[in-house]
Amino acid sequence: MNPSALHTPSPWVLAARAEKMNPSVLRELLKVTERPGIISFAGGLPSPKTFPVEEFAAACAKVLRDDASAALQYAASEGYGPLREMVAASLPWSVDPAQVLITTGSQQGLDLAAKVLIDQGSRILVETPTYLGALQAFAPMEPQVQSVASDEEGVDIADLRRVQAAGTPARFLYVLPNFQNPTGRTLSETRRAALSACAAELGLPLIEDNPYGELWFDTPPPAPLTARNPDGCLYLGSFSKVLAPSLRLGFVVAPKDLFPKLLQAKQAADLHSPGFNQRVVAEVMKDGFLDRHVPRIRALYKAQRDVMLAALAQHMPPGVTWNRPDGGMFLWARLPEGLDAAALLPKAVDRDVAFVPGAAFYADHADARTLRLSFVTASEQEIQQGVTALAAVIQENMA
Ligand SMILES: Cc1ncc(COP(=O)(O)O)c(C=O)c1O
Repeated sequence: MNPSALHTPSPWVLAARAEKMNPSVLRELLKVTERPGIISFAGGLPSPKTFPVEEFAAACAKVLRDDASAALQYAASEGYGPLREMVAASLPWSVDPAQVLITTGSQQGLDLAAKVLIDQGSRILVETPTYLGALQAFAPMEPQVQSVASDEEGVDIADLRRVQAAGTPARFLYVLPNFQNPTGRTLSETRRAALSACAAELGLPLIEDNPYGELWFDTPPPAPLTARNPDGCLYLGSFSKVLAPSLRLGFVVAPKDLFPKLLQAKQAADLHSPGFNQRVVAEVMKDGFLDRHVPRIRALYKAQRDVMLAALAQHMPPGVTWNRPDGGMFLWARLPEGLDAAALLPKAVDRDVAFVPGAAFYADHADARTLRLSFVTASEQEIQQGVTALAAVIQENMA
């Protein structure tokens, strides 16, 4: 190697916004937890057991046989018409397919919303804690992110009023009403009604992110916030948790005045989401496949949740607390006073068990004692084993 190359100054000048981008703490963590032999409660991955492989094989073959020229061609940025219609018809309020924008995962919906709605310094509001991937999508637009206090039922309405009154009006509140990532909690009906009324009164738009809503265990969650005030909400959905995440397909349902700007942002980002995947999904979903498939996912995840709840009750030392999610993939736990989940993680990994420390999910004032446990990818036996090991690590560190 030419030694002078070592001293050549880099010609690249980073944009200020690039300085705001951070590596996902989660993805970095996942690298450690992917070590063979580790029982990981850390991932945010759906169980591969739920992937409808045969249906995909048949649908791929059919799409290629009947529709290859269109399926492999550039396509409309809005998305594949029949899929937009299916999405609109599946939602529990009146949605015009023209309001549905198919996105490259709902993660892209967050990115597009950030580009269209946030100026440098804009105030935006999030729950405490919130989805880390949303914080990552919002950060490059350089907003002032402010947390609204939240409890086991979700956003605290009095605190929302306080925060909104404390500065320039926020551009939006980002909210995850169902089986939230990371906490697994659900916004109650009373709270939804109050939040919807309060947001309308304050003129505060809502971004409602709902990738887990179909994964309920006993009863469906209350109606979406968007159903109550469609013009004041941007709704995000995903095929990742009901079909497969590698499709990278999600959607936004946008009020008519917002749709054109989101579409333009999408055109700049990727022209369109994969047309082949969209046709395959439409083919798989036609004839009501999800009505048969999703109940199997619910049953599997519910059984896994129950195994984890039982193992926690059996093994955790006094002072550790956790919730009982009514759906989704995650459970939220809190360590006794004096313990720090991030400091505990390497010790847990030494004992072949991993989780995600909760601090990463807070926009500010992180609670270092919290942690997120996924109950969907480990087997029942691994859940038993992993919780036993985790309980032992906690016990040792309490001493
Ligand atoms: C709350 C939330 N929103 C959005 C996403 C992104 O999902 P996708 O881009 O796969 O649709 C995730 C992924 O885990 C999530 O948990």
